[in-house]
Amino acid sequence: MFDEPLKEVWSARYGVEVPDSIPDLGPVLTHRSVRDFAPEPVSDGIILGLIAAAQSAATSSNLQMWTAISVQDPTRRRAINAVAGDQKQISGAAWFFAFCADLHRIGAAASAAGEDPSALGTAEMYTSAVVDAALAGERFTVAAESLGLGCCYIGALRNHPREVARILELPPNVVGLFGLCLGWPAEDSTAQMKPRLRPEAVWHRERYSDPSPHISEYDARMVEFYESQGMNPGVNWSQRSGRRVGIEGIGTRTDWGEILRERGLDQT
Ligand SMILES: Cc1cc2nc3c(=O)[nH]c(=O)nc-3n(C[C@H](O)[C@H](O)[C@H](O)COP(=O)(O)O)c2cc1C
Repeated sequence: MFDEPLKEVWSARYGVEVPDSIPDLGPVLTHRSVRDFAPEPVSDGIILGLIAAAQSAATSSNLQMWTAISVQDPTRRRAINAVAGDQKQISGAAWFFAFCADLHRIGAAASAAGEDPSALGTAEMYTSAVVDAALAGERFTVAAESLGLGCCYIGALRNHPREVARILELPPNVVGLFGLCLGWPAEDSTAQMKPRLRPEAVWHRERYSDPSPHISEYDARMVEFYESQGMNPGVNWSQRSGRRVGIEGIGTRTDWGEILRERGLDQT
């Protein structure tokens, strides 16, 4: 469904013409979050394939410290949605997954093998688990998009982590990180590719370089983008995103360290 030619893709992302040297990476470059889904189901076979894709991601020391919990029971899906911002894409998705950092499974394996898993509660191990889960989630998403499916991540899964842990019956050392909505995009989906900072803003050569020129350039493009989407007229990316990084922008998620310690990660 989202199969714009490379020329169009590049211009939508960066506002410039595509250089000749760029390989056409097809659906890998056309991602956009999809929030309106068709009612058609997505088979268990497809999901198993996507889980295998997620498991094919690299994983720190092969520890595989992530778990994805699908939430298909309507009552449980509603309960999750109620604590994750009540978003239409959560209720409308054919599948909803809660991706978790999982330090429980490797802890159980280590203990059963007579090893002492005393580092599992550290910030280092938690960070490894978060990276593992993110790599798995994104590979799942890329694979899904290659089939024409649409996805939307849900960071709001972290709004009420105690409730999420209760609803999903998470054991200690397992923390819900993000949700992932999946389904066939609705016929009339208006999901657009969103412009990004120019590649030079994120690809620095040899040493860190000043991002300011890229920010100004991007701000100007984003004013136009927001206006085209009927959002925040006159507001640029720095202003809009600046609000997201203020303390009010993270809403209920201010006590994450405390949450992690409660979940058993007592050295974080
Ligand atoms: C970790 C993470 C959490 C996100 N949480 C939400 C969310 O709760 N609700 C939502 O509508 N979109 C969410 N998004 C989607 C982002 O808003 C979206 O990726 C971003 O605006 C860029 O747009 P694009 O994905 O269409 O390129 C999330 C994305 C990520 C990576």
